[in-house]
Amino acid sequence: MATLLLIDSSVFPEGGSASRSVTSAFRKTWEEQHPDGTVIHRDLGADPVPHLDGVGASAGFADPATHTPEQQAAFALRTRLAEELERADAIVIGAPMYNFTIPSTLKAWLDQAIIMGRTAGENSSLKGKPVTVVASRGGSYAPGTPREPFEYVQNYLEAVLNGAFGLEVDFIVPELTMAPANPAMAELVPLYETSRDRAHEEAAARAKALVERLAA
Ligand SMILES: Cc1cc2nc3c(=O)[nH]c(=O)nc-3n(C[C@H](O)[C@H](O)[C@H](O)COP(=O)(O)O)c2cc1C
Repeated sequence: MATLLLIDSSVFPEGGSASRSVTSAFRKTWEEQHPDGTVIHRDLGADPVPHLDGVGASAGFADPATHTPEQQAAFALRTRLAEELERADAIVIGAPMYNFTIPSTLKAWLDQAIIMGRTAGENSSLKGKPVTVVASRGGSYAPGTPREPFEYVQNYLEAVLNGAFGLEVDFIVPELTMAPANPAMAELVPLYETSRDRAHEEAAARAKALVERLAA
């Protein structure tokens, strides 16, 4: 029975969030294909993990046998996040663009979950696991657009998810999501709608393909 780890980081709840609508489409298809499977939902918008502090950071670099009681307490959360990642057969992450990069709650989760010698490094326990990132954004940062150099979501997440965790990374990018609300973007609404519809189709197709791959 396969397990999906679903991580949302939008500050907006379901219904008002572009990334959540696509991560839920992914989840819906996954559950339809996998009625007996498990979904672990970590909602960083509603329930953020604390920032990594010096105690938790030093615990990650020390032999657990030598941990002080404070390090043990701080490391318990990091271990739980690592276990969720290790338990998952596939991961989906909602990563909206806020001020050109990822939400600070997602960065806090990454800082806690990246444990050198366990989830990160040459022999990462997550090597080769598939992750799908839903990278919604209000504008467009696609290749060739004027804002392309300001894209710090996909560049960063590719580096950290593949480079540190060793995951196999795939992006779904609903773009121009601000078009319906911003009169200055009115003429971009059709492009937004196309991007939104394509993102939902890609989420369903990707979830289906992953279920089939895991069953093979
Ligand atoms: C705090 C904040 C900062 C944002 N910064 C950017 C930005 O730098 N570039 C951009 O294209 N859109 C920006 N947006 C718009 C969001 O990227 C866009 O609405 C996206 O679809 C949000 O996904 P969500 O609804 O799942 O949170 C910002 C939105 C918020 C709330």
